[in-house]
Amino acid sequence: MIRSVITGTGSALPRTCVTNADLAERVDTSDEWIVERTGIRQRYIAQEDETTSSLATEAARAALETAGVDASEIGLIILATATPDHTFPATATQVQAALGCGGGVAFDVQAVCSGFLYALATADSLLRTGMATKALVIGSETFSRILDWEDRTTCVLFGDGAGAVVLEAQNVAEDGPGILSSRLHADGQHKDMLYVDGGPSTTGTVGHLRMRGREVFRHAVVNLAEVLREVLGDAGRDAGDIDWVVPHQANARILDATARKLDLPAEKVVVTVDRHANTSAASVPLALDTAVRDGRIKRGDLVMLEAMGGGFTWGASLVRM
Ligand code: ACO
Repeated sequence: MIRSVITGTGSALPRTCVTNADLAERVDTSDEWIVERTGIRQRYIAQEDETTSSLATEAARAALETAGVDASEIGLIILATATPDHTFPATATQVQAALGCGGGVAFDVQAVCSGFLYALATADSLLRTGMATKALVIGSETFSRILDWEDRTTCVLFGDGAGAVVLEAQNVAEDGPGILSSRLHADGQHKDMLYVDGGPSTTGTVGHLRMRGREVFRHAVVNLAEVLREVLGDAGRDAGDIDWVVPHQANARILDATARKLDLPAEKVVVTVDRHANTSAASVPLALDTAVRDGRIKRGDLVMLEAMGGGFTWGASLVRM
């Protein structure tokens, strides 16, 4: 059977690390409050010369290198972001140009923190229908550009970064590698809980992120537990079969609560929120690359990727590495 197989991962972070103590000099907060409520200790913040496309390009190059794939072989680039370089063209096309892989398909996906899951499921569908044979799926964000740095309830939660995977259509055996099942969801009724108060068609400005954290937290735990059960059911597996969960890194308490709901041991959950904070669409591929490079996630492991974000949007994919 034809499956989409992850053959390489890569990631990139801005040069500048900002600790909670650094933030406490700018807004009325403390390292203690941030660590206790979120698990975040530091985040990376892009300087002027670091953009969503430059971070994405660096992550993509690293993924291509680990996959042993040349940029010229890539026929599809899907980039998930809510912070594109420009309103248009799609940031994916800028990455395509920077990598020097012309001629294929390149577009952006906008599903905020779930963007990488949306991009992965879309690329999987396109690969399995023969639109391309090798794809780059990227999550890249510079959320620091849309934060209200006077609002302590949101500015401490986010960071910048990028992650990428090379996805290849391969003919594999039933128990072979590849994406086994994916589910995506959206519910547009809750826009006011998490949104940006600007945009080209409304204010004509970029705007700032606004969030009602407590309500988002409640929805996240319920929705994520549900979608994980759906994806496991589709693949005929149960939670005990999972080797690693790579969740969207929003908040350590959401990760703990979701794992508890599914009876998943905490040791199986990849956590990078302490180092990277919430990097929105970049967080899942960034965490995946971290755990692949430090040797935790190995070939043959069964890995659950999951995320929930603004919209609300949420989704999950079960992948045999
Ligand atoms: N430093 C110090 N005090 C703060 C800070 C801060 N940075 N931010 C808020 N506070 C204060 C509040 O003003 C409030 O004070 P008050 O009681 O005097 O009014 C108090 O801390 C408690 O505020 P709450 O908002 O009730 O705190 P809560 O325990 O809900 O934690 C948090 C807030 C961390 C945002 C939590 O609700 C959360 O994690 N929500 C999930 C949202 C999230 O992670 N979103 C990411 C995007 S969506 C996604 O990725 C899934």
